[in-house]
Amino acid sequence: MSDNAWETHAGWWQEHFTDGADPEYEEQVLPLASEHLAGAASVLDVGCGEGQLSRRIAAGGSWVVGVDITANQITEAAARGGDARFVRARGEALPFAAGAFDAIVICLTLEHLAPFEPAVHEVGRVLAPGGRFVLFLNHPLLQAPDSGWVDDQILGEQYWRVGPYLEDGVSMEEVGPGIKLPFMHRPLSRYINVMADCGLLVEHMDEPPPPPGFLAQAPEYSEAALIPRLLLLRARKH
Ligand SMILES: C[S@@+](CC[C@H](N)C(=O)[O-])C[C@H]1O[C@@H](n2cnc3c(N)ncnc32)[C@H](O)[C@@H]1O
Repeated sequence: MSDNAWETHAGWWQEHFTDGADPEYEEQVLPLASEHLAGAASVLDVGCGEGQLSRRIAAGGSWVVGVDITANQITEAAARGGDARFVRARGEALPFAAGAFDAIVICLTLEHLAPFEPAVHEVGRVLAPGGRFVLFLNHPLLQAPDSGWVDDQILGEQYWRVGPYLEDGVSMEEVGPGIKLPFMHRPLSRYINVMADCGLLVEHMDEPPPPPGFLAQAPEYSEAALIPRLLLLRARKH
C-alpha cells in the first residue's frame, strides 16, 4: 500500500467530490446507490473513499461496511461519522468470510485497479448467493481515452468522437493542477465477462444523461448532453 497516489491526493478528492461538492454525486450517484441497494440487510462498499455511499446506504437502514486501501480516506470516513463502519483493506483481499454480505457496491474505483479481476473475484466470493452487486463505472465506451465533442468548423459537423475503445489504456491522468492519479481503460466486455466468470450476471443497466447541476458547472459539455458519462450495472450472484 506504500506507493499509493491516493494517500497524497485523498484531500483533493474529499474537497471536490464529497460532502455536497459534486453535482454528479448529489444528483445522480448517491440517489442511484440508494435505489439499487434498497432493502439489503448488509452492504459492503469496496473502495469507499471517505464514505459518502456507505453513509447514504446506512442511513437507509442497511448494516454497512466500507473498505478502502487508503489510510487518509478511511480516517476521514471514520471522522465524518454516520452509521457505517470502516476498515482499511484492499479490494483484492477482502477480510470477510464467503457469502458474508447481501449486497456489494463498487463506485468509480475499478478504473483505478490494475489488474481489476482479483477484486471482482473477491466480490463473487464475499457476496451471498442471490445477492446484488452494483458497479458504477465511468462509461467505458463513450468516455474511452481521447473521446470528446468535436466541432469541425470546416466541414460543419459536430459529433462525439470515441477514442481507441478496444485498446487497454493505463495512464497517470492529471485531474487537477499537480494531481496525478492512475486510470485504466478496458472495454466493457472485459468487466461483464469477468463478472460472469464469478457468477455475477447483469440484470439491470443504467446510462443516465449528465445531470443538470453538472451541465451548469460544465457548459462546454452542453452540446453533448445526450452522451452519458456514467454506467451502472446491477448483477445478481447465481
Ligand atoms: C474515485 S475514488 C471513489 C471513492 C468512493 N467509491 C466514492 O465513490 O466516493 C476511488 C477510491 O478507490 C480507492 N482504491 C484504489 N485502489 C484500491 C484498492 N486496490 N482497494 C481498495 N480501494 C482502492 C482509493 O483509495 C479511492 O478512495
